[in-house]
Order: sequence, then structure tokens, then C-alpha cells
Amino acid sequence: MDRIRIVGGNALNGIIPISGAKNAALPLMIASLLTSDTLTLENVPHLADVEGLIRILGNHGVDIAVNGRREHQDGSYSRTVHFTCRTVADTTAPYELVSKMRASFWVIGPLLAREGQARVSLPGGCAIGTRPVDLFIEGLTALGAEMEIDGGYINAKAPKGGLIGARYTFPKVSVGATHVMLMAASLANGTTVIGNAAREPEVVDLANCLIAMGAKISGAGTSTITIEGVPSLSGARHRVLPDRIETGTYAMAVAMTGGDVTLSGTDITLLDTAVEAIRRAGAEVSAVEGGIRVIGHGDQIRPVDIVTEPFPGFPTDLQAQFMGLMTRANGISHVTETIFENRFMHVQELARLGAKITLSGQTARIEGVTRLRGAPVMATDLRASVSLVIAGLAAEGETMVSRVYHLDRGFEWLEEKLTRCGAIVERISD
Ligand code: UD1
Repeated sequence: MDRIRIVGGNALNGIIPISGAKNAALPLMIASLLTSDTLTLENVPHLADVEGLIRILGNHGVDIAVNGRREHQDGSYSRTVHFTCRTVADTTAPYELVSKMRASFWVIGPLLAREGQARVSLPGGCAIGTRPVDLFIEGLTALGAEMEIDGGYINAKAPKGGLIGARYTFPKVSVGATHVMLMAASLANGTTVIGNAAREPEVVDLANCLIAMGAKISGAGTSTITIEGVPSLSGARHRVLPDRIETGTYAMAVAMTGGDVTLSGTDITLLDTAVEAIRRAGAEVSAVEGGIRVIGHGDQIRPVDIVTEPFPGFPTDLQAQFMGLMTRANGISHVTETIFENRFMHVQELARLGAKITLSGQTARIEGVTRLRGAPVMATDLRASVSLVIAGLAAEGETMVSRVYHLDRGFEWLEEKLTRCGAIVERISD
């Protein structure tokens, strides 16, 4: 199993190209199930989760053609991928495939809308607390579907003439359930109004792509989205938006190690709240042409309290990384997690590097230390593992991160990107 060896202490200087967003690419790829035409996506990151979803979509009958990777070309490492689902070959998404990645559960929306039925295994994914599917069931039921749980699977069936537009307000904000409702309602009969919708940029990206495919959607990016169903959708060409989580992660790395890095191919407006927190911690973050410039001062980090919230609040996917940054602050900070109940698995690993963190319910109290020391640590989930990498970059000596397959799910060319900015990071394949 691969490990990553980091020798900390170097400042980061240079340019880091930001990839297309994993969390946008996944629902966009799934949207290809809605049409018999070709959906072409540009800027698709080369990640284990993307490859996994390609396998799942292949099982449903999607033909996939990948254009050559433009490796080490400045601005983007990502690829253009063509998805064509002439006919749906199978409306079942089996346990072996869905259990590896929660987002693959989302195929339930387009399969149900296009084929009138779907049998989808209950999902797996990162072990960050129970992640139920009640909101998906309620939402699709509101569109007239019959939803039944049977032997670890959800059997979904649309009414005879297809799904029926309806008004439905989510009791809780869910990114995935909003994606699924958008896709399902696009092919429903009549108008759907989704209340308390997720406002994440990835939802807006999916809506824009669906609109390019002929869907009639308004209000994406606000908490009320209106979808007027159409009988069919066509193909389109769409560019996946930049990864705001990758952007924030590298910005926090620079804030922690010190240095001067331009994050190219990204957009500061995708992560206002996180940028504000990084600035308050003492780094300079500014919009420059085609990206963001971050200047970090390493050992002069100020403590900042954050609370994770749905967009536009501080993203839960940057919580672990920000906690990593706070371990070196000059004082005490608090990090409160409100989205997932078990997203503190990085705490004990950060402690191995010398961090002083105490947990009380959903809040971590972090007492900044002047130095972290390298140690062997273990990646536990996707975002937690990258927090260990950035803490390792700021620690003295060697940090060895094991179980890095978590990182490969979400960070494209991580070692290369960091090494080109002066970090000592290498992958060891045993
Ligand atoms: C997406 C992101 C993930 C991010 C999360 C929150 C992708 C591929 N993943 O995950 O990186 O951390 O948004 O920003 O885009 N919930 C229910 N019932 C449901 C569905 C969700 O109670 O039926 C709960 C979840 O347990 C969680 C909260 O709602 O507590 C938010 O989850 P959700 O927004 O659905 O996360 P994902 O879409 O799975």
C-alpha cells in the first residue's frame, strides 16, 4: 500500500494549478445518464473516485472516451471526457460498486427519471458518521416515486407516465439530495419547486450543465430552485468548475509553511468564507488574474474560531485542514463541526505530530504549539488525510502518511504539485 513521506520545514513558492472539482465532476458525470446524446465534460480531474464512477456508469451502459491528459501543462492537469448513454443497459447499481463511493448512489435520480425504475444499493464512502438517505427517499417520493428498501437496496419506481413535478422542501440541507432532485425533476412532468436547496457552487455547476442540455431550471445558487420538466434532454459540452476544496487546502498549506504561491485556474469567489478565515489567521490572500495569490508568514499564525456550515458558510471539507493550520497558531482556537457527527478522526493523528487538541462534543479546542514534529500517521478519510500532509509540511523532520488511497480519491497530482513549489514529498510504493 502506498505511503507518502514528507520532510517538513520548507516554505512553498511557485504556482499550483488547481484541478476541476471532484464534487462537481461526479454529479455532472451522472447527468450523462439523462440523455442518449453525448455529454462532453472538460476539466475532469484524474482521481480514484472519478475512475470508480466511470466503472459504475459503464455498468449502466455509458460509453466513455477520454481525451489525452495534458500532464504538467500549466493551468490544468485535467482531461476532457465524453459520456454517451445511448440506451440504459442496467437500472441496478450493485453493492460492490456503490459501497465504495457514496456519490454513486446519486444514479438513482437519472435512472428513475429516464427509465422509470432503479434498484440502487445503499451507499458507502468516507467513514465520517452515519450518512442516511432519508432526504433522497422523501424528495423522490414527493415526485410520485414508490420507494422501498429491500435487502440493502432501494427499489424506486416512477408512476406509469413518469415522475410528476411537485413542491418539496428539504428539512435539512443536502448537497447530494439537491443534485438528485435537480436531475430527476428535469425530466418530470410539470414544475418542481425545491425549498431549502443546497447552494453549493457544485449545485450551480450541475444546474448550468443541465440547462445546456435543455433543462429549464432557475434559482440554482439560492435556496429555492424551480425546475420545469422537459420530455428529453440533449448532449452538451461543459467545463467542470475549479475545485474550491483543493484551492482552500493549498492556501492553508501556504499559510502554515510560509511562502508565496499562486493558485492558478481557480476563483476566489468560490470560497469567500474560507478565504476570510485564512486572512484572519494572518496570511495574505488576493485575487490575481486567473487565480489566487497566497502569501504565508509561517510562524505568525493567529488563532481563529470557525464553525462548519452549508454553503456559503465554512465548508466541512476544509475543517480538518484548518484545524491543521490552527495547531501552529499563537493561541487558542475552536473548530466546531455541524455537518457530520464523526469528522474529527484527524485529531488523534495531528496529536501524534505534537498538536494539542481536546474534543468536547462537536467542538475541538486547539492550543497552538510553536513546533510540530514529524511522526508516522495514518490517513483516515479524504479530507483528514490531506490535513496530515499539510501539517507534515510544517513539521520538523519526517512524517510518513500511510493509507494514502484516501488522498488519491480527491487530490490530483498532490506530490507533484507540492514538490514543484519546493516541498519534500514523495510517494513510496511498497
Ligand atoms: C457532499 C460532498 C462532501 C461534503 C458534503 C457536505 C460530494 C461528492 N460530496 O456530500 O464532500 O462533505 O456534501 O458539504 O459532493 N443527510 C441526511 N439524510 C440524507 C442525506 C444527507 O441526514 O438523506 C445528512 C448527512 O448525514 C449530513 C448532511 O445531511 O449530516 C449533509 O450531507 P450532504 O450535503 O448530503 O453530503 P453529501 O452530498 O453526501
